[in-house]
Amino acid sequence: MTAILLAGVKKRYPPREPGLPPQDLLTSVDLEVKRGEFMAIEGQSGSGKSTLLHLLGGLDRDFEGEAKVLGCDLRALSDPELAALRHTQIGFIFQSFNLLPALTALENVLLPDSRRGRNRPRSRAASGSGWRSPARW
Ligand SMILES: Nc1ncnc2c1ncn2[C@@H]1O[C@H](COP(=O)(O)OP(=O)(O)O)[C@@H](O)[C@H]1O
Ligand SMILES: [Mg+2]
Repeated sequence: MTAILLAGVKKRYPPREPGLPPQDLLTSVDLEVKRGEFMAIEGQSGSGKSTLLHLLGGLDRDFEGEAKVLGCDLRALSDPELAALRHTQIGFIFQSFNLLPALTALENVLLPDSRRGRNRPRSRAASGSGWRSPARW
């Protein structure tokens, strides 16, 4: 089964300053990743790795072409549908982490669930109820 499908994906950044040209960073990316497949994206700094991952993760929909994750057309989803896909199917570890310093690592991981009416991350972390051993993931 195809997990990720990109066809003719293009990403253009606007000029950094007036008078400069826009930057065509991704010019036509085709990619297929099967379910269960492990893939690493390599490239020199500034080549567009983070940009590509932001598109794949549904964080940036300002692009041209087709991008599907688990059969969902990322640009066709409503904002709540996209948020639900990100919440349930996509995991991110950001380069700059974006963690809340007042919370522990485990509380940070559990935080998104608290937005969906589940227990507060701190009490779940304290009770251990949010933890499942890797064998059960
Ligand atoms: N929000 C943005 N606006 C304009 N240009 C950007 C923006 N984000 C990244 N860029 C430019 O896009 C290029 C690729 O960035 P990025 O995807 O972060 O590369 P990588 O992750 O491979 O180092 C860089 O030249 C960067 O300056
Ligand atoms: Mg990067």
